[in-house]
Amino acid sequence: MKIVLLGPPGAGKGTQAKSISNRYSIPHISTGDIFRKNISENTPLGIEAKKYIDKGQLVPDEVTINMVKDRLQEDDCKSGFLLDGFPRTVIQAEALQEFLLERDKNLDTALLIEVPTEFILERMTGRRVCPSCGASYHIKYNPPIHGDKCDVCGSDIIQRKDDSEETVSERLDVYKKQTQPLIDFYKEKNLLSVVDGTKAINEVFEGICALLGDFE
Ligand code: AP5
Ligand code: MG
Ligand code: ZN
Repeated sequence: MKIVLLGPPGAGKGTQAKSISNRYSIPHISTGDIFRKNISENTPLGIEAKKYIDKGQLVPDEVTINMVKDRLQEDDCKSGFLLDGFPRTVIQAEALQEFLLERDKNLDTALLIEVPTEFILERMTGRRVCPSCGASYHIKYNPPIHGDKCDVCGSDIIQRKDDSEETVSERLDVYKKQTQPLIDFYKEKNLLSVVDGTKAINEVFEGICALLGDFE
């Protein structure tokens, strides 16, 4: 299965992606996670990406597109993939279409996790993440079992630097201007599926499985 996840920052893309990836045995490719890993390792890509991410702006298309193309050519993507956080601009979406077309492949669906703006701030400011394995928590809706330790790997969980109120509002603006147009982009191609992302985490996942059942 080849899936793109769409939705505003904090919609629950990363949270649902982990479950989708397990259920359908496809690799979860999060551009945000790849950038954060590079930042923590201080690579040239990380140093470049950090300039934009800390301000809530998008990393330039060229950098991001090349990074994703490299990743999609790895062996584990042969039978499918789940893209989380890519594409985020029309240019990125067109590059992905072209990449797939050149390989006689098609997306099965672009799945929009729909969450109105009023839910977003609470989700983002309450989010905690594991810097080691990428697991994501919420202090109220999805707290870790053991205080501030990651359930998966036991590392101390932290708050993402770009989850401050100020950066969140910039990220929402960027989403509206640059990423929201992708909803129409995929609608016109008859590829859009929509799930209500305001429900509880497990209910959203049930909604997603009901939609994805058609593509198995
Ligand atoms: P990225 O890491 O992709 O951030 P984002 O899109 O802003 O999305 P988030 O990760 O913030 O939200 P999410 O939808 O994954 O929500 P989550 O599941 O964590 O990108 C970061 C930055 O990298 C960008 O700003 C940009 O600079 C750069 N970048 C990345 N990709 C790029 C690209 N393609 N081009 C250019 N630049 C790029 O959930 C959020 C919180 O809510 C969690 O605490 C969670 O536990 C909780 N939650 C989830 N679901 C529910 C629910 N149903 N009910 C209650 N709480 C819930
Ligand atoms: Mg995420
Ligand atoms: Zn962890």
